[in-house]
Amino acid sequence: MDGRFNTIAGWVLGAGIVLLGATLVTGELFKAERPETMGYPIPGVQAEGEGGEAAAAEQPIAHYLQTADAARGENIFHRCQSCHNADNGGANGLGPNLWGTVGNNVAHRPDFSYSDALKNHGGRWDWDTLSQWLHSPSRFAPGTKMTFAGLSDPQDRADVLLFLNQHGGTLTIPPPPAEGATPGNAATGGNAPAANAAAASQQRPRADAATGNATQGGGPAANQAAPGSPPANAAAPAHH
Ligand code: HEC
Repeated sequence: MDGRFNTIAGWVLGAGIVLLGATLVTGELFKAERPETMGYPIPGVQAEGEGGEAAAAEQPIAHYLQTADAARGENIFHRCQSCHNADNGGANGLGPNLWGTVGNNVAHRPDFSYSDALKNHGGRWDWDTLSQWLHSPSRFAPGTKMTFAGLSDPQDRADVLLFLNQHGGTLTIPPPPAEGATPGNAATGGNAPAANAAAASQQRPRADAATGNATQGGGPAANQAAPGSPPANAAAPAHH
């Protein structure tokens, strides 16, 4: 009786171990397979996705200043007028008078009581700092008293900044970001990865055939190919 019970228990245990083993093996197989099946269609998709992001990503403000329009800017400035005016000798309101702000120091009015956030910020209002400020005052100077959400459209910012510059500002319109320089500038943002991905997808079939492993084979080859290679350069301006 005892012996038979042990035998049965042994079989049950054994079956369990076999099952467990099978599960582990399938799990292992499944894990090993997943990246491969996913990795295959993705190179093209990824390149497109990143290209899309790069296209959506903002250009430097200098780009939008080329086509900026002070009349449009004056319209946008209506949204600021509950707190600001830009008149020469105009009074401070809820916000400081903005005559002569563009090109001046941050917190430029000695007779306005700025928040510590802005007063201690330091620096100068140039196109870039003003663009960042107007994009999101609270991100530029956390704790600022300017309770204005910001202008998310870079063209709106360029327009209103051009209008402000014509009210005592001292800046000149910067040259357009050079054709070749634009992708370089945006490289931190995401153009380079797109170019890399484009190069990678070209490299992958070959690497695939050689090693059977797209991810390991394609990566280094693509990276070597990317800097300065025609496909990488050709891929970057494609979003224009
Ligand atoms: C609700 C009121 C309000 C609105 C609307 C508003 N601002 Fe301001 N703005 C302020 C206040 C308050 C400050 C001072 C902020 C501080 O001290 O932290 C300020 C500061 C500024 C400064 C810095 C001035 C300096 O002397 O350094 C600029 C530039 C500016 N605003 C531009 C604008 C523009 C352009 C708009 C419209 C797109 C706008 N503001 C909308 C209240 C406002």
